[in-house]
Amino acid sequence: MERKILVGITGASGALYGYTFLKELKKLQIPAEVIITKAGETVWKYELDKSLDEILNFAEKLYKEDEILAPPASGSSFYSEMVIIPCSMGTLSAIAYGTAKNLLQRAADVMLKEKKLLVLVIRETPLSLVHIKNMEICSQAGAIIFPAMPGFYHKPKTLDELITQFVKRLMNFLKLTPEGFHSWQNIYEKKIK
Ligand SMILES: Cc1cc2nc3c(=O)[nH]c(=O)nc-3n(C[C@H](O)[C@H](O)[C@H](O)COP(=O)(O)O)c2cc1C
Repeated sequence: MERKILVGITGASGALYGYTFLKELKKLQIPAEVIITKAGETVWKYELDKSLDEILNFAEKLYKEDEILAPPASGSSFYSEMVIIPCSMGTLSAIAYGTAKNLLQRAADVMLKEKKLLVLVIRETPLSLVHIKNMEICSQAGAIIFPAMPGFYHKPKTLDELITQFVKRLMNFLKLTPEGFHSWQNIYEKKIK
């Protein structure tokens, strides 16, 4: 099956994670389609000061949450995996309980039932027991909880270096090979050994 990544963007803080992920996928010429929630649109515009149209520089398609007839709503569609970045606690909960109230939630539900990879880049702090239990349910159902928790061992000097390394770590998890990813092995061999 051809690789095509479905990218979900919700109203959690951290629109920059989603933006950077799309930018890096484009560099590797990995096809992507995006679903954005209403809250996702609001936070995207507020945090990035960018229009939604920017997404179409990196993705083949952009769906709004109410486009329930769109291809991601069905298991017969052709997405290889789905990454929700950033993923709000509200969407996490909807996935845990299978409520599928909008296109993004339904697409995530589809990934689980079709036994395809679903990665949730969740962002919230602190976490309540409700959040933790919902993570447990999603994890048991097969989703990967990939918290928006950047590492510091590459000694980032700018916000861009911090976020890009996190996104490249995610891509490394997805078995993609972005240029300039600082694996610990690399750092160890160049700077420590
Ligand atoms: C500026 C801003 C930042 C937010 N940050 C978070 C966050 O980090 N995590 C979270 O779960 N919700 C966050 N929210 C709340 C969500 O946007 C809200 O719960 C929304 O209903 C989520 O809907 P969605 O999952 O359909 O996008 C934030 C809201 C705003 C306005």
